[in-house]
Amino acid sequence: MALFAKAGCAAAAINAARPAVWMSLNRALIFLGPPGAGKGTQAKQFAEREHVPHLSTGDMLRDHVARGTALGQMAKPIMECGELVPDEIILGMVEERLSRPDSVHGFIFDGFPRTIPQAETLDEILKRRGFGLPQVVEFKVDAEKLLHRVAGRWTCSVGGETYNIYERPPKVPGICDRDGGKLVQRSDDRPEVVKERLAAYERQTKPLADYYRQHGVLDVVDGSASVEEVSRALKAILKRAEGRNGHL
Ligand code: AP5
Repeated sequence: MALFAKAGCAAAAINAARPAVWMSLNRALIFLGPPGAGKGTQAKQFAEREHVPHLSTGDMLRDHVARGTALGQMAKPIMECGELVPDEIILGMVEERLSRPDSVHGFIFDGFPRTIPQAETLDEILKRRGFGLPQVVEFKVDAEKLLHRVAGRWTCSVGGETYNIYERPPKVPGICDRDGGKLVQRSDDRPEVVKERLAAYERQTKPLADYYRQHGVLDVVDGSASVEEVSRALKAILKRAEGRNGHL
């Protein structure tokens, strides 16, 4: 915890300039968990409630793919195999995103970091930007439920709202309740790719739970409950974390 003690002055200076609405986060919050665990669903709600950016490296990559950028062309075949995009690419993208003005008040990462080198570099980036250690929540959901959730996922092509045809269907099939956008399925949600994504999670991302546990910043949530129950549990976890470290 003493790791970022020297960064306190810079963080205090940033805090003083913040509007009151931002004061409740003031750090990086990380949702860690396998594909389909509900990270994106909860991160979107949390970001709207707390007025902080929701930073999903998966969404950033899909945006590059859709725009046909050089980064997108490089990432597309890797994502379609269910493997991880190289650390340097991801870290460059995250650094660029954090340099924007809306990120000085804290942010929520969904799907990042995913490897130990990404986590170590994130620690350095946060320190440089005057933030303390991140707060991390690991979502636990059994594999059968994950496959079921991913198979039923449809996402709005306009606003990114996520639905599930089995558990959280839209009012009109194929149409977003919020903005009327067309709902689409992700190309990496095919069962054979999801199996690879789950294997990549076990191999490369799950060890991050121990990394953050050793830093004393890990909490675990039962992600198999309903969206509302998980949201309530997250609020309680974050309140306890606020009590522990005083500035969440
Ligand atoms: P990414 O987009 O990050 O995908 P992911 O981590 O595999 O996670 P998902 O988006 O599949 O799941 P989620 O936990 O967000 O679940 P959701 O809330 O949508 O990454 C995609 C690819 O990009 C990677 O494979 C990799 O190639 C690359 N990549 C991205 N970041 C990278 C990085 N840092 N390093 C290297 N490569 C990277 O929910 C799923 C479904 O369940 C939805 O239908 C939802 O409505 C439903 N649902 C959610 N919660 C509940 C609930 N509590 N009860 C019932 N249904 C629920």
